[in-house]
Amino acid sequence: MNLSHSRRQGCFVTFEGIDGAGKSSQIEAASNWARDAGWEVVRSREPGGTPLGEKLRELLLHEPMHLETEALLMFAARREHLAEVIEPALARGAFVLCDRFSDATYAYQHGGRGLDAAKFAVLEQWVHPARQPDLTFVFDVAPEIAAARLAGGRADADKFEREQQDFFHRVRQAYLDRAAASAGRIVVIDASNSIDDVCAAVLACLQERFA
Ligand code: TYD
Repeated sequence: MNLSHSRRQGCFVTFEGIDGAGKSSQIEAASNWARDAGWEVVRSREPGGTPLGEKLRELLLHEPMHLETEALLMFAARREHLAEVIEPALARGAFVLCDRFSDATYAYQHGGRGLDAAKFAVLEQWVHPARQPDLTFVFDVAPEIAAARLAGGRADADKFEREQQDFFHRVRQAYLDRAAASAGRIVVIDASNSIDDVCAAVLACLQERFA
């Protein structure tokens, strides 16, 4: 076992990408991998992950609001999530898999909405000064492909899914910029490949970092 990720301290892995990139099946595969490797697995999501966070999610995905309010509520839900779920699980030595985290705020609220990223750095310092994911997967796919996948599977699109493609081009670019500056924490996976190929890339990375 890699000593920097002993079971005593747990592992925190996050999953990111534009809507329709195909995170869900990969989270399923990654959690099976971690369970088979003997970890206690905790799966969660943002916004959400706690009773209060899920109420905020409902508002964030469906209620019109100012862009600043949206960003602040993302971080408010995150604070609750860290305190109630993520930090206790990591302290127990669990393998925590989270569908989105702060990289999503940079990608969507900065890249997509155009809010100042410096403000998020301040909020990040406040909400999780000593915590970053150990590993983040960004599932990278062209917005045109992602939109076609969503159209096939979703009748009740939320506020974000109804955004135009130029929004998702900006979100995608923000993820790629963040990955380039992340010193290896963020791994970009080509999500235009088949589910099986994407899954193989995810599992190989988990094996290399945490087995
Ligand atoms: P998503 O994770 O895609 O869930 P589902 O697959 O069930 O639709 O939906 C959450 C949405 O919230 C997604 O469109 C991205 C958005 N989001 C932000 O804009 N900022 C954030 O900080 C987070 C965590 C999510």
